[in-house]
Amino acid sequence: MKGVLLAGGSGSRLHPLTKVTNKHLLPVGRYPMIYHPLYRFKQAGMKQVLIVTGREHMGDVVNLLGSGGELGMDLTYRVQDEAGGIAQAVSLAENFVGGDRFLTLLGDNMFEDDLSDEAAVFESQSEPARILLKEVAEPKRFGVAVFDEQGNLTGVEEKPAEPKSSYAVTGAYFYTPDVFAVIRGLKPSGRGEYEISDVNDHYIRKRQMTYGILSGAWQDAGTFESYPRANELARDWQLDF
Ligand code: DAU
Repeated sequence: MKGVLLAGGSGSRLHPLTKVTNKHLLPVGRYPMIYHPLYRFKQAGMKQVLIVTGREHMGDVVNLLGSGGELGMDLTYRVQDEAGGIAQAVSLAENFVGGDRFLTLLGDNMFEDDLSDEAAVFESQSEPARILLKEVAEPKRFGVAVFDEQGNLTGVEEKPAEPKSSYAVTGAYFYTPDVFAVIRGLKPSGRGEYEISDVNDHYIRKRQMTYGILSGAWQDAGTFESYPRANELARDWQLDF
């Protein structure tokens, strides 16, 4: 299985911290933010990782990580010219992925869990997609899972004003290469982005999506509220690549 790490976007919610650098290069605990999801890939046995980032800071990202050799990884890079959404960033991985299954992680997501078990579940399932959920206090900041009365997952809603559950969709998405055709069929959302929630909703409606619930802590780091929390969570994490 391969890894696709998304580190593009404008980082506008962290301005001016992100005025001259990429959000994913800011410190979280003892490391640049991007090391955290990168480590979860390595831990789960995915050494081949594609990093997608914007044109402004690609040079800095490559300067930091290089070929990945120092970290025991094999890194490839692709530029996303404009921040057209998470699904658009995923679409850039088509050639890299080839015929393999893959895990996409958002570069500003901190996972306490080792994702190896989840990767193993996805490897052996027949469905083409799997997402990881986490119960949170403020679901409206995220993609939110919708369940029916029997507890079946029936949809995901992106940043709903009135969330139908307290389960956030975390930035960990398992797909087969089938996802690229799904993304080609998407229309941009009201905010002009190709939304990953539309991709996931597509699979849920076709009953082709499974989900897991994270047992460890999870925290995004993309806003002034969440960034200090991510630093607190990861303060003592030691990433032994
Ligand atoms: O953190 C989890 C949440 O991430 C999910 O619950 C939401 O469903 C999902 O849409 C996303 O929401 P955010 O508003 O937090 O997404 P954001 O725009 O901050 O982007 C998250 C990461 O994705 C960011 O670290 C960089 C990457 N990204 C984003 C965009 C829009 C790209 O690589 N390219 C892009 O065009």
